[in-house]
Amino acid sequence: MSASGKRILVTGGAGLIGSHLCERLVAHGDEVLCVDNFFTGTDKNMRALLQNPDFKVLRHDITAPLHERVEEIYNLACPAAPIHQRFDPVRVLKTTINGAMNMLELAMRADARILQASTSEVYGDPAVHPQPESYWGHVNPVGPRSCYDEGKRAAESAFFAYHRQHGVKIKLARIFNTYGPRMHPEDGRVVSKLIMQALDGSPITIYGTGTQRRSYTYVDDTVEGLMRLMGSADDFCGPLNIGNPAEFTLGELAEIILELTGSRSEIVHLPAVAEDPKQRQADIALAREKLGWSPQVTLRDGLWRTIEYFRSVR
Ligand SMILES: NC(=O)c1ccc[n+]([C@@H]2O[C@H](COP(=O)([O-])OP(=O)(O)OC[C@H]3O[C@@H](n4cnc5c(N)ncnc54)[C@H](O)[C@@H]3O)[C@@H](O)[C@H]2O)c1
Repeated sequence: MSASGKRILVTGGAGLIGSHLCERLVAHGDEVLCVDNFFTGTDKNMRALLQNPDFKVLRHDITAPLHERVEEIYNLACPAAPIHQRFDPVRVLKTTINGAMNMLELAMRADARILQASTSEVYGDPAVHPQPESYWGHVNPVGPRSCYDEGKRAAESAFFAYHRQHGVKIKLARIFNTYGPRMHPEDGRVVSKLIMQALDGSPITIYGTGTQRRSYTYVDDTVEGLMRLMGSADDFCGPLNIGNPAEFTLGELAEIILELTGSRSEIVHLPAVAEDPKQRQADIALAREKLGWSPQVTLRDGLWRTIEYFRSVR
């Protein structure tokens, strides 16, 4: 380990955001312990790091307690794709709630800073647009996606309870839709699904009219935001939005993907998904003010890099 480095735990380090974060932290001179149960992540995502002496991997499920000496914890472990959430909602709840509590206990024992990867899903189907951190959200507690939305909301509550009651040093990031190389090609998330359909020349399927507006954040921008938040002043806990405010309809996203892949796939509309939010856009005034952070990668550039990745793994 380099002399200046910290010992940092990244849960979910084998996933999309976690693997890019681990690379950035090791490059920065930190010693990184990646904890993952490999439910959605894979060791292929960590190929560049596996021989690095400053990087270790521990196969562990965060729903069980963990004892490690670390100075910082990024709690990213949780399946982010709706297909996994529908497949095993009980596991999602255990990971979001019990997992967060276990990591908070660890942070308390180790006197470590802990950052939670929360989500824009805590805003649900928002009645306020764009969504500032002060908006409390509009979530159906018994809806088909509630295991994730409410699990993450409960985790936010747990973070503030440990902070207020035990003085744990917390940071709460509300991450908006993030995409990039190492997304799972079959996870059904909109960016990966549309790119794979375009590359395969099969119909591009859009649920509903395609007028739903969404914002898309490239993974490098998200990682930069998380690292800046972890390094922010002690008295700033968040919550803090990390997202790209540039909005596109699903129809526009599909058109850009068709153009960048050169695909001749047709766009086909399927019945709308129940409780699919009509709009979601980050208000990032606070991130600009507190961290000097704003996204740097345009949708076209990010999609191009992601398409290149999918071409290389097909
Ligand atoms: N990607 C996004 O659009 C997005 C948006 C908002 C929030 N987030 C949050 O950011 C985090 C990372 O998202 P991602 O896109 O990298 O997801 P991902 O599914 O690619 O990675 C999640 C990682 O967590 C691991 N994991 C899942 N359950 C675990 C458990 N119980 N114990 C240990 N490891 C476990 C998986 O194996 C995987 O490696 C998640 O907490 C997610 O909720 C992501």
